[in-house]
Amino acid sequence: MDRTQRLADPELLDPEHEEVHLARGTRTGVPLAIAIHSTRSGPAIGGCRIRGYSTWHEGLADVLRLSRAMTLKCALAELPHGGGKAVAMVPDRPLAPGTRPALIRDIADRIAQLDGRYLTGPDLGSGPEDMAVIHDHAQGWAFCRPESRGGSGDSSPGTARGVVVALTAALAHTHGRGLSGLRVGVVGFGRVGRLVASSLAAADAQVIVSDVDDGLRPEAERRGLAWASTELLHEELDVLVPAATGGLLTAATARSCRATLVVGPANNQLADEGVEAVLRERGIVWIPDVIASAGGIIHAVCREELDLDEVATNARIDAIGDKVSRILEVARDQGTTTSQAARAVAAETDQAVSR
Ligand SMILES: NC(=O)c1ccc[n+]([C@@H]2O[C@H](COP(=O)([O-])OP(=O)(O)OC[C@H]3O[C@@H](n4cnc5c(N)ncnc54)[C@H](O)[C@@H]3O)[C@@H](O)[C@H]2O)c1
Repeated sequence: MDRTQRLADPELLDPEHEEVHLARGTRTGVPLAIAIHSTRSGPAIGGCRIRGYSTWHEGLADVLRLSRAMTLKCALAELPHGGGKAVAMVPDRPLAPGTRPALIRDIADRIAQLDGRYLTGPDLGSGPEDMAVIHDHAQGWAFCRPESRGGSGDSSPGTARGVVVALTAALAHTHGRGLSGLRVGVVGFGRVGRLVASSLAAADAQVIVSDVDDGLRPEAERRGLAWASTELLHEELDVLVPAATGGLLTAATARSCRATLVVGPANNQLADEGVEAVLRERGIVWIPDVIASAGGIIHAVCREELDLDEVATNARIDAIGDKVSRILEVARDQGTTTSQAARAVAAETDQAVSR
């Protein structure tokens, strides 16, 4: 990103956030950013991302964008929270031995200073064990500790369940059909992608998976899934499931995509806002990731905070299907994009909840 593009980023110029904190960790010197987008519906919640950024601007833009999306995700999921996010901007080389525990303590210190206005969870680069450390050192303000340490554990199964529910609802709405015989491509065979792929295959869909890490192929084959070594984005598919890291769909890939429905867990799966217009022009329906990926956070909040059992929690995750149908109805009736419709449905939900 060049300087002009960076300064043109609307989030950087005019953030609508309640608080943004940026400082180096006292133990590691790693720049840490925490953004609280909104606490109007309850404390801000959102994952802790640990990754390399080429500049502070880039890390700051990420934390602003991701925390804003979390407010929308919480509203759509009807959770008593607003959006927040933490980002640790580590160097693009492996951390020195012993640095990682110090980094997690640095993050915990910053979260502790926010007095419960921000609660964290796992994201790219962080996991349940890190959440246990943050929970212990930041007065309990972390979700998804391992179950053995009193938390709700890995959020991936909840996220995968939500993706399958979203896909099923979207398919019924757009194609009037079920999963059997559907040709689905899952890009990214990580924690969520492999669970989604296996569930879809169990429902008789024809599933093809791909990953930049070819070493995952034996695991895919062990699960009876077809592996694509080629670029899945251009294959003849009914549904494309982006389950890799963000920015997978660019204007160019959107122009050559042959699926008619795109629904997956990847955060920020569209490289920029213009990609949605390209998909729409080509008649490809895109389900915004703020709703498709909400199953994990619903699981964590329902289990750890609302004290719901697994059955009631799964019912809350399954309600993602109703939200997807409503988003598609609003987009059709008002002639808007699905992301505009998602914002309208969040506002509708917010009004209904506060009545
Ligand atoms: N785990 C959750 O509960 C959760 C919740 C919400 C959103 N998400 C989002 O869903 C996505 C997947 O999450 P995950 O937990 O499975 O991550 P993961 O790191 O376990 O898996 C991601 C996989 O994508 C692969 N990959 C990366 N770039 C790729 C590319 N260009 N093409 C093909 N494969 C590529 C990686 O090799 C890896 O196997 C991420 O964007 C994450 O932010 C995850």
